[in-house]
Amino acid sequence: MYISYDAGKCIFSIETANTKYAFQIVGGKHPVHLYYGKKDGAEVAEFENRFRSFSPYSPDEGRIYLADTCMSEYVGFDSGDFRTSSLKIQNANGDCATFLSYKDYRVFKGRLDLEGLPCADADENTETLELTLVDELTNVEVKLYYTVFADCDVISRYVTVKNNGDSAVTIKKIMSLTLDMPDHDYDMISLYGAHVNERNYQRVPLFYGNQSIGSRRGASSHQFNPFIALCRKDADEVSGGVYGFNFVYSGNFLDEVEVDQTGGARVQLGLGSENFDWRLNAGDTFVAPEAVMTYSDTGIGQMSRNFHKFTLEHILPPEPFENRPVVLNTWEACYFDIDEKELLRFADTASKCGIDMVVMDDGWFGARNHDRAGLGDWYENRDKFKDGLKPFVDKMKAYGIKFGIWVEPEMVNPDSDLYRAHPEWCVQCRGREGMLSRSQLVLDMGNPAVLDYLKDIFSKTFDGVAIDYFKWDMNRHMSQVGSPILPADRQGEAAYRYMLGVYDLFRWFRAKYPNAMIENCSGGGGRYDLGMMKYSTMIWTSDNTWCRKRIRIQYSSMLAYPASTMSCHVAGLKHCEVPEQLKYIYEVALGGALGYELHLPNASDELRAAVKVQIGNYRKYEDLILRGDYYSIMNPYETNISAYYYTNADRDRILLSFLQNEPEEKSREITIKVCEAQADATYYDEIGKDTYTGEQLRQGVTVATDDSGWNSRMWYFVKQ
Ligand code: GLA
Repeated sequence: MYISYDAGKCIFSIETANTKYAFQIVGGKHPVHLYYGKKDGAEVAEFENRFRSFSPYSPDEGRIYLADTCMSEYVGFDSGDFRTSSLKIQNANGDCATFLSYKDYRVFKGRLDLEGLPCADADENTETLELTLVDELTNVEVKLYYTVFADCDVISRYVTVKNNGDSAVTIKKIMSLTLDMPDHDYDMISLYGAHVNERNYQRVPLFYGNQSIGSRRGASSHQFNPFIALCRKDADEVSGGVYGFNFVYSGNFLDEVEVDQTGGARVQLGLGSENFDWRLNAGDTFVAPEAVMTYSDTGIGQMSRNFHKFTLEHILPPEPFENRPVVLNTWEACYFDIDEKELLRFADTASKCGIDMVVMDDGWFGARNHDRAGLGDWYENRDKFKDGLKPFVDKMKAYGIKFGIWVEPEMVNPDSDLYRAHPEWCVQCRGREGMLSRSQLVLDMGNPAVLDYLKDIFSKTFDGVAIDYFKWDMNRHMSQVGSPILPADRQGEAAYRYMLGVYDLFRWFRAKYPNAMIENCSGGGGRYDLGMMKYSTMIWTSDNTWCRKRIRIQYSSMLAYPASTMSCHVAGLKHCEVPEQLKYIYEVALGGALGYELHLPNASDELRAAVKVQIGNYRKYEDLILRGDYYSIMNPYETNISAYYYTNADRDRILLSFLQNEPEEKSREITIKVCEAQADATYYDEIGKDTYTGEQLRQGVTVATDDSGWNSRMWYFVKQ
């Protein structure tokens, strides 16, 4: 049992392998947060009132409970707590006060499914606490869910709101996770960026006031990832308290931290309020997406490993192939200039180089000869594939390779048959001209007719075709957000309904083509989130394939997500023709799932031979990269060096990487400590052909920086 209730003190406790979470029902009514942190030696103090003048209290209770100054589990708007709220509902009478009182609870094995939304899978150890709160005036019932993934040290949270009243109400803001912390002596880590520059690492101290990141773009976005961490000021990779948070959702979101007059910090993750409201008729229930949290008292590295394990075991779909295919993608090699003849050359070269799969990227359908036409017309272009898709794919597969294909289901070009037939199927505000981005508009995925069309046309085009892999792209953000099928008082639901439609289509793809894997993409890593990971085995990390930029993007992605989710391609043909540059680019790509983005049919024999050797080597340790434990040693945002290793559970195989980012005029020696090596073991480095004791590895291997700009080194230690 991970969840318990002390009826005498009215305290709920939730335990994971190394953490504890506790809250108390105060005065029979108020769920007050007590503790979240390490389990061993945890001191959970009971609720203590912190009186402040100017804080309202109920005349019945007096000053024994002040919503404004205590730590809460979940906060109704205008309930006497002036801090940022968890839930704002406009009641039938027009006001927005919500008072949530404890009603009852239940604990059960497993978890409930979140209708239509991605959520973490339960296993035999999963347990859930359901806490029911009610607003006695309006009869709105709120259920808080706490699901325990004990061996990952992860607790997930989500919320449902049911209108048991007689009249409709409108949800104006909803958060899935509220965590009040007693102090704010933390730095916040968040990942900001832009297209071709995703997930930059930022670590800044919390300050008094509200600090937030989020997305109003209809996608979780390149600009801010939903992951955040709060770490003690002295926390580093291996020591110090660190809380990690993430949201299992791919659309608009809000992560906010408010430091208030008590010095405490309120952390919240959820849909927020700006791009969301939801009309809840009498009898209806709204389910908000799931958020997750973890705690490590041994630094940032363990927080990341908790999330890696959780994502691998409870989020990602089963892999359809025994080995993750090494992919050769046509995009950077050909852009739109593809046809059957060219693709067959790719298949031929791929099979000779040991590549498992050719992915035919954009350009194969409709009038898609450039990015201004064709999106929405999901049938093969007969000028390029004269006998149709099936005979072409059969010819590709005759080379003994797998075949993948690019789609962008959510979009339409105005210059397309689809748009000409159905302009009303786009996301739009009534009476306003839609704005373009990459010459395209966004389909209203909340409209069932759009989903029916897509399911129908994809079935017609793909059924019976031996497709092993879909690259699912999404190349613009949503503006002028509204839906022609919704009434005026439901327009605020359009962005959320859109995401429900997207997830519906993902589930349809997975059920219809169960043997195919999905690579997710949104102009690179624009939807690099746990929602997408529920349906996609990996994500195109970034449209920026320049290796130096990738070093940093990969480092910060690994803070929250496992390496198996990162598609990392060797790219930039010009550099790859030079041996030391090719080695460097390859060693950067070994941070995740290896692939190639090169015109291999036109490449030199030397390059093709080198690719074959690279893939052969990758096969020796890909299991460590894709499923091993990850230890970062040097942060490339702070040191010009990225150093990290992957190791198996027994620590008898270790793959260590050193990557120098920019050239350094003056060489210096760097010591890289492999602290997880078994001290009394002997390891043989199969790359450098040298023997080390485990103790030596723990003391560190040394390597020198240089001015070449292509300085990298790898060691593959195997215990003897
Ligand atoms: C996006 C993707 C690229 C490629 C192009 C095709 O930019 O991130 O990898 O698929 O679209 O148009």
